[in-house]
Amino acid sequence: MTALIQLTETVLHQTLALQMPAGGVALQGRLQVPGDKSISHRSLMLGSIAQGETRIKGLLLGEDPRSTAKCFRAMGVTLSDLEQEWVAVQGVGLGNLQEPSEVLDAGNSGTTLRLMLGLLASHPGRFFTVTGDGSLRSRPMGRVIKPLIEMGADIWGRQGNTLAPLAVRGQRLKSMHYRSPVASAQVKSCILLAGLMTEGRTTVSEPSLSRDHSERMLRAFGADIAVDPETCSVAVSGPATLTGQTIVVPGDISSAAFWLVAALITPGSELVIENVGINPTRTGILDALWQMEADITLENEREVTGEPVADLRVRASALKAATFSGDLIPRMIDEIPVLAVAALFAQGTTVVKDAEELRVKECDRITVMAQQLNRLGAQVTEQPDGLEIEGGAMLQGAEVDSYTDHRVGMSLAIAALRTSGQTTIQRAEAAAVSYPSFVQTLANLCQPA
Ligand code: S3P
Repeated sequence: MTALIQLTETVLHQTLALQMPAGGVALQGRLQVPGDKSISHRSLMLGSIAQGETRIKGLLLGEDPRSTAKCFRAMGVTLSDLEQEWVAVQGVGLGNLQEPSEVLDAGNSGTTLRLMLGLLASHPGRFFTVTGDGSLRSRPMGRVIKPLIEMGADIWGRQGNTLAPLAVRGQRLKSMHYRSPVASAQVKSCILLAGLMTEGRTTVSEPSLSRDHSERMLRAFGADIAVDPETCSVAVSGPATLTGQTIVVPGDISSAAFWLVAALITPGSELVIENVGINPTRTGILDALWQMEADITLENEREVTGEPVADLRVRASALKAATFSGDLIPRMIDEIPVLAVAALFAQGTTVVKDAEELRVKECDRITVMAQQLNRLGAQVTEQPDGLEIEGGAMLQGAEVDSYTDHRVGMSLAIAALRTSGQTTIQRAEAAAVSYPSFVQTLANLCQPA
C-alpha cells in the first residue's frame, strides 16, 4: 500500500486526508522550499518606498506577501506580475505613498499590518484605514500603536487603540528611544520604518535579539543603521534616502523546518533541502534539533544579497528530549509547533518555556497545538508560557483542525507521517499563507522511489 494524501475542497475550505502505508514512509531526495516570508515582505515594502527600481527573485507567492503587494499597489506603487521570475517594484520614494481610496487589507498577515503602520503613521497629512481577517483583527496591535503614539502618531482603533480595524492620519513624528518589552521583529521594524522619515535618531531596544532582516535590508538600501548587539538595540537616522536594490530571496527556514522534522521522525529518511536562509537570528530551530541529537548538516554555505544561505542535509535520527527557554525562543518562535511534533518521537519529556508569544500568533499556538496533538493520542500539556511534550508517542488517526493557522495545519500533516490510520485536517487551505505548494511537496516525498 502507498501513502494516501488527498485534498478535498468545499466552497470555503479544504480538508486534507492522510494515511501512511503499514510499513511507514521514508523520505528521500532533494527539494527546495519557497522564499523566506519575512524577507519577501521587506523587499516589497522597501522597494516601494525607495527611489528607482527594485528587482526581486525568489519572492514567496504565499497569501501574506500578496497582501503586502496589494496594499502597496493601492498606495500608488507599480509592481510587475508577481508570478514572474524577477518581480520589479517601481519605488515612489520615501514619503510619497499615496492616500489609498480603499481600506488597506492585510489579510492574515501581522507583518504586513504592523510594519506598514510605521510607514503610514509617518506620512504627514495622509489618511489611511487598515484591517485584516478575523485572526488578525484579534491580534494585539497596541504593541506597535503605543510607541508610535509616543512618537506623535495619530492612530485610532478598537478597544483602546489595540485592535484593527485602524484609522491613521499621518503626522510628522518625533524621534525617540523605545524599549520594547517583547523581542519582536515586527515591533522593532515598525519603529525603524517610522524612523526613516523622522528627523534625528530613532532607537529600538529589545529584551533579546529578534530576526534582523530589516536592519540588513535597510542598510543595503542606503539607510544609516547602527546596531549594538550588547544591548540588542538598533538605531536609524532620519530622514533617510533609500535606493532600489536587487534582492535574491533565500528559501524560508520556517518552511524547511517541516521537512527537517519529517525526515528526522520517519526511519530511513534522508533529504537535502537546498538554498535555505540560515541567518543566525532564525536558526534557533537548528540549535534546538541539534540539542535533541538530530543528524542535520550544513553544506555549501554562502552569502546571497546580504543573507547567509546553505543546503541542509537531514537524516532520520533517534531524538532525545530537551528543555528550551530564554534567548533561543525568539530565534525559533515560528518553528515551535513543528518542534513539538519532533518532541513526540523523542526519548523523554521535552519542555518549551518563555514562549507566551505563541498565544498571540495566527491562533493561540499553545492551546491549539496541545489540543490537536492530543486528539491524535499524544500527551502534550499546556503551560502558561509553553508546552510539555511526552516522547515515545504512538499516534492514531483522528480528525484535527488547523484553526486557520498555516503552521498548525502543516505541523499536524507532519505528525500524520507517524500516525496509524487516517488523519484528516480541517481548514488545511491555511498552508497557502506561507507555503502554497506544501501538500504537493508532501505527496511527492511520500511516493515510493
Ligand atoms: C516576523 C516576526 C515574528 C514572526 C512572524 C514574522 C517578521 O513575529 O513570528 O512570523 O517578519 O518580522 P513577532 O515580531 O510578532 O515575533
